[in-house]
Amino acid sequence: MIKGFIFDLDGVIVDTAKYHFLAWKQLADSLHIEFTETQNEQLKGISREKSLEKILNWGNTQVSTAEFNKLMDQKNKVYLSYIEKMDTSDILPDIPRVLNFLKQNKQAIALGSASKNAKHILKKTHLLEMFDVIIDGTSVAKAKPNPEVFLAAAKGLNILPKNCIVFEDAESGIEAANAAKMTSIGIGHPEILHNANDIFTDFTKISNEYLNNFISK
Ligand code: G6P
Ligand code: MG
Repeated sequence: MIKGFIFDLDGVIVDTAKYHFLAWKQLADSLHIEFTETQNEQLKGISREKSLEKILNWGNTQVSTAEFNKLMDQKNKVYLSYIEKMDTSDILPDIPRVLNFLKQNKQAIALGSASKNAKHILKKTHLLEMFDVIIDGTSVAKAKPNPEVFLAAAKGLNILPKNCIVFEDAESGIEAANAAKMTSIGIGHPEILHNANDIFTDFTKISNEYLNNFISK
């Protein structure tokens, strides 16, 4: 049976989660706002705008709309400078094997990311053509944990949500997949992703046999 396999981007396909953190950290430092890796977990999966709102809240800092937009721009410029040098070597281990296996088995593949930089990154890593549908920060309004991004991906693939499998590294992403009534697979730490249907540290632990279980059902 054809299933919809939906991948988050940052921290699932490429190791860009660390660049988002470094860029936010630099911005927070410039505003004299304390910002830790633990707090950063709450920013994973959510939009640029929502992330900045949270950081400013943590720092009890208010800014004008013009300043807010300037800060978002500033963060993105730093982030873009980090991803400038990205190439195929930045693809996380075993992602090509998993994508190729799904393609060979004629499965539907989508991207479901909050990032407005998603297509740029997929181009740099030569992965763009692997995806049948791309839903990113330019196509949805509601941030994860809202299921909008994954529901839009399922719709684009023309596959029922219950027949979709989502790979996510963010707590908000697992919540979004669960809210969409999809199978949620956490990539990362069990203490953060405990609401997922299944959890793996990375894709090297996800065998073709495991993927085949979804396809054969
Ligand atoms: C992803 C990341 C977030 C990031 C968001 C927006 O969901 O997990 O950390 O803030 O995308 O990314 P962007 O590239 O548009 O700033
Ligand atoms: Mg992510």
